[in-house]
Amino acid sequence: MRNIIITNINGRDVRIADAPPDQMALSWLRAEGFISVKEGCGEGDCGACTVVLGVPRKGGFEWREVASCLLFLPMLDGRALLTVEGLKGKDGAPHPVQRAMSEGFGTQCGFCSPGITMSLYAMGRRGATDEDGIFDGLAGNLCRCTGYRPILDIAHGLPALDAESWEADLAARLDAATALPLSYSAGGRSYYAPTSLNDAVVYRAAHPQAWLVAGGTDLGLAITKRHQHPETVLSLARVNELTTITEEDGGVTIGAAVPYAKILCALRRRHPEFARLLRRIGASQVRNQGTFGGNLGTASPIGDSLPGLIALDASLLIASSRGQRRIAAEDLVTGYRTTQLAPDEVLVSVHIPDLADGQVFRAYKVAKRRDQDISTVSAAYSLRIEDGRISAMRAAYGGVADRPLRARHLENALLAQPWTTATLALAQKDLARDIAPRDDFRGSADYRRKVAANLIARLWHETTEPTEIPVSLDSL
Ligand SMILES: Cc1cc2nc3c(=O)[nH]c(=O)nc-3n(C[C@H](O)[C@H](O)[C@H](O)COP(=O)(O)OP(=O)(O)OC[C@H]3O[C@@H](n4cnc5c(N)ncnc54)[C@H](O)[C@@H]3O)c2cc1C
Ligand code: FES
Ligand code: FES
Repeated sequence: MRNIIITNINGRDVRIADAPPDQMALSWLRAEGFISVKEGCGEGDCGACTVVLGVPRKGGFEWREVASCLLFLPMLDGRALLTVEGLKGKDGAPHPVQRAMSEGFGTQCGFCSPGITMSLYAMGRRGATDEDGIFDGLAGNLCRCTGYRPILDIAHGLPALDAESWEADLAARLDAATALPLSYSAGGRSYYAPTSLNDAVVYRAAHPQAWLVAGGTDLGLAITKRHQHPETVLSLARVNELTTITEEDGGVTIGAAVPYAKILCALRRRHPEFARLLRRIGASQVRNQGTFGGNLGTASPIGDSLPGLIALDASLLIASSRGQRRIAAEDLVTGYRTTQLAPDEVLVSVHIPDLADGQVFRAYKVAKRRDQDISTVSAAYSLRIEDGRISAMRAAYGGVADRPLRARHLENALLAQPWTTATLALAQKDLARDIAPRDDFRGSADYRRKVAANLIARLWHETTEPTEIPVSLDSL
């Protein structure tokens, strides 16, 4: 065990032994003099606090832009961190991205500029400077005054950013120095980050009141906005069994603590339609930290992953010190923000089977904005049509009840029926028996009912319209 946070900030080795573990990296960094890192919203929405986190991998780092306002300080353990202060060269000359921001008129008041610079840097390091990469890379950074045109021009002209000569050595050094689990305490609070599932569940059984954290993109808000302070945190972010993706014949198993950015790489090949939906979770700062485990753990009625997982007939592996069990994804959530997980249990992984021959899957999200917005209503469907009739159908919705749910009346109305407008109209009527939407600031119950019915019509259009160009009604 180690009781000290070992990190490297802007090329300098740093040990942290006395800051409380539920302090967010943002406030710690600013107190330590890294004042380029700005605080805007404090809830992951604006990108002003964006820093770039280097996660060691073979031969170097994988660099991810993250929101430091939601990053628990111990999440720096074993990672390298870059802020805008660290980009300049040894001779003090600005980094090419900094020069481009300045010479390309990418900054006015400058409040957003360090965050945008770091997002551009991460984008350059990923080599993601095509249209999609730029769109994704900047969607989490708000700028009030410059306007995005010059910033987008800068992004389009970004030079290729190669790894620096020191990276492989530092990554290996950090990995070796942090091989033992972290058990950190300061200010009367503690943070435990085991590396094995066994250690995690044994600790969970002994400390059922501990906050279970994966990426922290939900729990961080409990600290920054609701001013709660956990006595004990159990981090799952380094547990081997929860951080791996296993691709096998027939399906893919995704660790509950794998961040979306990595999930997307695996799903783009096997489930491109689901990947398209997950790409709309938050922005890249959130997707670089947020996980399936966290999304399912919140049991939010508008969480984006569960409808897709239900429609794909995914299953969940759950573990405790008493053993392991597997459940269907549709059985996890038992009510408003409640799950069937016992206090000593953790989600280990999500298994998503491949689509069978002829099976079609679609997932839709309706929100007020395309990026950085939670769903008002979401839906996911998987179906098979044989000889003009629907031979298999699974349908799931979010945002239309106290929990994400499977729409069984809708399914029954469609099964064995011809996939026609008449069947669609009957199914839309039966859908009303599955859902019980409420009014809230995102949309009225009536609006949600109409959207839910329209989404099944969207599925009909996308799977029946006779056109040479595939129909995709991907809109808000
Ligand atoms: C700016 C912003 C935008 C967002 N946009 C979206 C969006 O578009 N769609 C969406 O669905 N969500 C969105 N979210 C919410 C959040 O990012 C997701 O729910 C994410 O998946 C949470 O994952 P996490 O690992 O960060 O969770 P954490 O904050 O680490 O944990 C969340 C909850 O899950 C529990 N938990 C975590 N891992 C496990 C596990 N393995 N087993 C059991 N319980 C576990 C925790 O105890 C906690 O209660 C957004 C959040 C922010 C800040
Ligand atoms: S301060 Fe706005 S995203 Fe962190
Ligand atoms: S330059 Fe002022 S907010 Fe972007």
